[in-house]
Amino acid sequence: MNVQEKIKKIEEQIEAAVADVKSSKTLLDLKLRFLGKTGEISALLKNMRDIPPEQRPQMGKLLNALRQWTEEKFDKLESGLKQLELKARYSQEKIDVTMPANITEDGAYHPNTLIRNELISIFSGMGFEIFEGPEIENDYYNFTALNTPKDHPARDMQDTFYLAEDLLLRTQTSAGQIRVMEKKQPPIKILSPGKVYRSDDDATHSPMFSQMEGLVVDKGITLCDLKGMLDEFARKIFGGAVKTRLRPSYFPFTEPSVEVDVSCFECGGNGCRLCKGTGWIEVLGAGMVNRHVLEGCGIDADEYTGFAFGMGIERIAMLKYGINNMKLLFEGDTRFLKQFKD
Ligand code: PHE
Repeated sequence: MNVQEKIKKIEEQIEAAVADVKSSKTLLDLKLRFLGKTGEISALLKNMRDIPPEQRPQMGKLLNALRQWTEEKFDKLESGLKQLELKARYSQEKIDVTMPANITEDGAYHPNTLIRNELISIFSGMGFEIFEGPEIENDYYNFTALNTPKDHPARDMQDTFYLAEDLLLRTQTSAGQIRVMEKKQPPIKILSPGKVYRSDDDATHSPMFSQMEGLVVDKGITLCDLKGMLDEFARKIFGGAVKTRLRPSYFPFTEPSVEVDVSCFECGGNGCRLCKGTGWIEVLGAGMVNRHVLEGCGIDADEYTGFAFGMGIERIAMLKYGINNMKLLFEGDTRFLKQFKD
C-alpha cells in the first residue's frame, strides 16, 4: 500500500468512526487513536524516512493536510457533543430552592483553652517565655529537686500516680522549673502551662487537671516584684477593680511561701456566695524560690533570687465563668461548651 492509499484508508476509518461517536469520552479515545503520539497519523509521519527524498515535500503536505482535516473534524464533533451533554445534564439536575439549607454549627473554644490563651497573652506581654515540660516525670524533678526529698511530709500534700519505682505522672508543673534552671543561668522568665495528675476526685478536683506555672530568677528579685506582677495579672484577668493579698503558706520549694487571694470580683469584696462571705477568693500559690532549689540547679543563691507561682487553670475558668462543677469541664458536652466565646 502506498502512502496515498494509506491516507485514503485512514480517512475512511475516521469517517466511519466519527459516525459512531456518541459521547466526548469515546471521542477522546478516537483522538488518541489517530492524533496521539503513538497514533496512526504520527506513525505515517515517522515513516517519512523510508520515502525517497524527492517525494518527501509532497508527502509532507498530504500528511499535514490529513492531520488538519482530522483535527477540524474532531473539534466540530466535540463542540456538538459538549452542547448535547450539557443539555442532558440540565434536564436531569434540578435544584430545589425550597430545600432547607445545611446548617453547620460554629465551634467554640473550651473554657480551659480560653483561660490558657488569656494567661499566655497576659504574661507574654510582661516578657515571659513559654516552656513545656514532660507529663511523665521522675521523682527527682517532681519532688527531690523541689526540696521535697523522700519521706518529706509535704509529699502527702499531693497524692501521686506512680508508673514505676522512679517514674510518675507529674503532680505539679513546678517540675518544669528545675528543667529550666538546670539548663539556663538567670535571667530566667518562663511560663509553663500543662496537665498535672493527682489521685483526687470530687466537684472541685479531678485526677487530671491543668496548671500554669511561672518562674522569674534574676538579680534583686523580691516579694514586691511578685506582688506587683500579681496585681497586674489579677486586674487583667478578673477586671480593673480587683486587688490581691498574700497569706502565709507553705511549699517546700519556696520560702517564704504565700497563698494569693483576689478581692471578690462578684461582690466587690462585700461578701457573697462566690467568696463565701469573706470578700476574698484564693487563686494561686506562690513564693520566693527556696535557695536550696536554686543551688541544686547550679545557680548562685547569693547573687540571684527569684519567685515562682502556680495556678490551676480549671479553677480560674470556674471562677471567671461561674462554673460550679468541675466535671462540666471534662464531659465535652457541646451544649455546655458552646456558651463560651471570647
Ligand atoms: N506547685 C504548687 C502546687 O501545685 C503551686 C506553686 C507553684 C506554689 C509555684 C509555689 C510556687 O500546689
